[in-house]
Parts: sequence; structure tokens; C-alpha cells
Amino acid sequence: MSSSRITVTGAAGQIGYSLLPRIAAGEIFGPEMKVSLQLLEIPPALDALNGVAMELQDCAFPLLDDVMVTSDPDEAFSGSNLCLLIGSKPRGPGMERSDLLKDNGKIFVGQGKSIAANAADNCRIVVVGNPCNTNCMIAASQSDRFSPERFTAMTRLDQNRAVAMLAEKAGTDVTEVSRMAIFGNHSPTMFPDFSNALISNNPVTEVISDYDWLKNQFISAVGRRGAAIIKARGLSSAASAANALINHCQSLDTVDGKIHSVVVHSKGEYGFTEGVWAGMPVRTVSHGNYEIVEDFEHGEFAKAAIAKTNAELVSERELVSGFL
Ligand code: NAD
Ligand code: LMR
Repeated sequence: MSSSRITVTGAAGQIGYSLLPRIAAGEIFGPEMKVSLQLLEIPPALDALNGVAMELQDCAFPLLDDVMVTSDPDEAFSGSNLCLLIGSKPRGPGMERSDLLKDNGKIFVGQGKSIAANAADNCRIVVVGNPCNTNCMIAASQSDRFSPERFTAMTRLDQNRAVAMLAEKAGTDVTEVSRMAIFGNHSPTMFPDFSNALISNNPVTEVISDYDWLKNQFISAVGRRGAAIIKARGLSSAASAANALINHCQSLDTVDGKIHSVVVHSKGEYGFTEGVWAGMPVRTVSHGNYEIVEDFEHGEFAKAAIAKTNAELVSERELVSGFL
């Protein structure tokens, strides 16, 4: 049986704790692929991470080959096929994700360089640490070895939130909602595009006649869901974030024609500025490779929303220009 090396940074954190057993159980690459976990933490968190590694051992996962615990990025990224960049500070109550830029941005400079120097030729990189779009751009900018398309960030949690809210409003099952794409930044400016989404293959706007709810409540509820979780839990989302990351990786590995939301490198699609990383609808075309789906149609409202979230991405890029 073949084996895949998966690096997880910030592995002793909240998301890591929900994520690692699921990866070790084979949820990303399926039952025919063994996994080796290469777990990175900062030195003060190594004891806790060793405890997590002990728990993974105690699960006796048949697909788990081995677990490496380290605080050395070069070791953690060595030969890695998939790098999940979670390690970074989460925001607290009253903060926006962009408030983390200066502290978290620099982490992705060093890790981007280390990935370029150490990872396997087929490596793919997914950024979760916030603000994830701009951190992804920072990591990608450190690497001449891997094309920008290898670097993606996560809007799948926003997609899942949007799907659940639409299904609840329509009184239907989440599996009936499709083509639900998140455009732009993983921030309150994101545009969860209800106008192209379908419920039971019919336009959402035909199934949910309450346009005011779609335009004024749905969009803001999706964009502010992370803050609502922080307010309720005192901590940022972790189980749902880990679940979304599994979904993100599974979808990029599955050629099923479905559209899913991924933060990708913009070459100007949908009016996004070239070179920023923006949420867009993608379709997986072969294992690990995707194309941006470009046939979503947008009216004036959607175009204005996309212009707003794009402007934020451009201003974040200006703020971190020293890291690029
Ligand atoms: P956490 O504080 O529980 O865990 C983060 C871990 O990262 C800590 O254990 C910390 O020691 C470690 N870390 C810090 N700097 C590091 C470095 N340089 N190298 C390796 N590890 C490092 O936080 P969490 O709840 O797991 O969230 C992690 C990040 O994910 C946060 O930035 C959060 O905002 C973000 N997040 C993103 C999404 C999304 O949808 N994109 C969803 C949820 C959370
Ligand atoms: C989320 O969307 O839940 C995460 O990005 C955490 C946060 O800061 O909101």
C-alpha cells in the first residue's frame, strides 16, 4: 500500500486536536493510502504535542504509519506531500482576522521558504491560519519551486456554513444545496454567492422567495459566523474548521464534477486583482489539480460585493508588502 506524508503545523492547537485523528483514520486520502504525520509546533507546545502523539498511538489506527513531533520546520516539511498550515494565533473577541496580519504573516515567510527547500515534488499546501488568504499569498511568494496554484487557503468552512443556513431556511437537506461558492476574502467582506447556488437543482432565489433575507441577513450571518462562535465559545471554531479542512482536501483529491469553494491565486477571474488569493468556485480535474469555474453570472449587486472584498485583499497585500 502506498503512503503519504502529511505535515500539520500548530498541531497541538485546537484545530489540530480535532483534525489529527480524522487524518490518521484515512479521511483525506481514503482506505488505500497509509499516512505518516509530521507535526510541527513551537518549543513551548512540544510537551502537549507529545501527548497528542501518544493518543494517536493509542488509537491503533491501521493506516497510520508513523508520527513525527518536531519544532524544526525543515524536519516537519521534509518529503511532505501535503502541508496543512494551521499554526498561528487565532483572534479573540472583538478582533478582526486582519488584526493578526503582522504577527501571523511572518510565520508564513519562514514556512514558505522551508517548504520550498524540503517538501516533495508533488507537494500541495493548504493555509488555514488567519488571515488565511493573505498568509497563503505570503507562503507562496517564498517559493519559486512550486507554482502558485499549489497553494490554496480555506473558505470551505464558509461554504459549509452557507449550505447549512440555506438548507435550514428552505426546510430541506444540506445535500440538496449545490454550486454554493464563496467569493473573496475569509472575512466579513466575503460574498457567499446565493445568486448562483441551487437547491434541488433550482435557483436558490426561486426556492427562497425572501430576497431581503438572502441579501441582508444570509450574507452577513455567513461572514460573521466565526465571530459568533468566538462570542459563544470564547474560542474560535475548531471542530467545524477541522471538518472543513478534511472536506477541502478530499474535494481537491476527488474528480466528481462538483463545484467547491477554495481560496486560489487570482489571474484576474471575476474581476479579482491579479496576484491576490481569493475565494472562487473550483472543480477538481485530476488528483490535486483544479480549474477555476468561470461561468458564474453576476448582476450589479454581486459585482459590487466582489469589488469590495477584492479591495480588502489588495489592502491586506499592501500591509504585508514587506513579507512578499
Ligand atoms: P490554537 O491557538 O488552538 O492553535 C494554534 C497552534 O499554533 C498553537 O498550538 C501554537 O503553539 C501553534 N503555533 C503558533 N505559532 C507557530 C509556528 N510558528 N509554527 C508552528 N506552530 C505554531 O488555534 P486554532 O484554534 O487551532 O486556530 C489556528 C488558526 O486557524 C488561527 O489563526 C485561526 O484563526 C485559524 N482558523 C482559520 C479558519 C478558516 O476557516 N480559515 C477556521 C478556524 C480557525
Ligand atoms: C472562523 O471563521 O471560524 C475562523 O476563521 C476563526 C475566526 O477568527 O473567525
